[in-house]
Amino acid sequence: MPSLGVNIDHVATLRQARYRDTPDSPHAEPDPVAAALIAERAGASGITAHLREDRRHIHDRDIFQLRERVSTKLNLEMGIAPDIVALALRIRPEDVCIVPENRREVTTEGGLDCAGQFDALAPVVASLRAAGIRVSLFVDPVDAQIDASARLGAEFVELHTGAYANASGAQRAAELAKLVEGARRAIGAGLRVNAGHGLTLDNTPPVLALPGLEELNIGHSIISRAVVVGLETAVRDMCDVIRRG
Ligand code: PXP
Repeated sequence: MPSLGVNIDHVATLRQARYRDTPDSPHAEPDPVAAALIAERAGASGITAHLREDRRHIHDRDIFQLRERVSTKLNLEMGIAPDIVALALRIRPEDVCIVPENRREVTTEGGLDCAGQFDALAPVVASLRAAGIRVSLFVDPVDAQIDASARLGAEFVELHTGAYANASGAQRAAELAKLVEGARRAIGAGLRVNAGHGLTLDNTPPVLALPGLEELNIGHSIISRAVVVGLETAVRDMCDVIRRG
């Protein structure tokens, strides 16, 4: 059964909506670390957080505290800016997922261009792996990207499910087929397979059929549902969907 990594960025986004200019306020809430602990208690197998170059939601301090307090595993999503790579090497999360980063995007929009950015990515992947960190590359289900991920020496690809999640009808079935093929190709190339982006209670079940799928990373729909039903219930509901699938 695939495991669930809960992405807690949106908890920090809500905090920043009020406390962006006073990040050290003792009143700053909600606390992403508290949310992470609830998610773990409710069945998450790991906590995912994206430290962006502009620190627009998660801050360095959150990452340090998550490193100390998360007892499942910490998956740090990040671009390859040198200061962020240095921070990863310092705190050594169990997993790093390298994502493309564009300052203007609301969320990670497309997969990483592993083929085009091979030379920039290679030393980063090598240094993270040398530090004992598992490295995953967030890619679209495209042969050239998957093959480049294997050549880069990553252990995992995280297949970008955003196009699938945004499609409907026949287009959605076509996007799912691309993900299935992508997972097969990844396994054939010696990679392990995670997936995520845009997944919800409704659209997750078909994704569970991806060959070799080990982990789903889900943020927005869980945190959104948490506002209405509570975080513990929102995480449990997603765990149930995964278990039933
Ligand atoms: N996986 C990766 C690599 C991501 O960048 C994101 C978004 O931060 C997610 C998973 C989670 O996506 P969502 O918030 O749409 O569930």
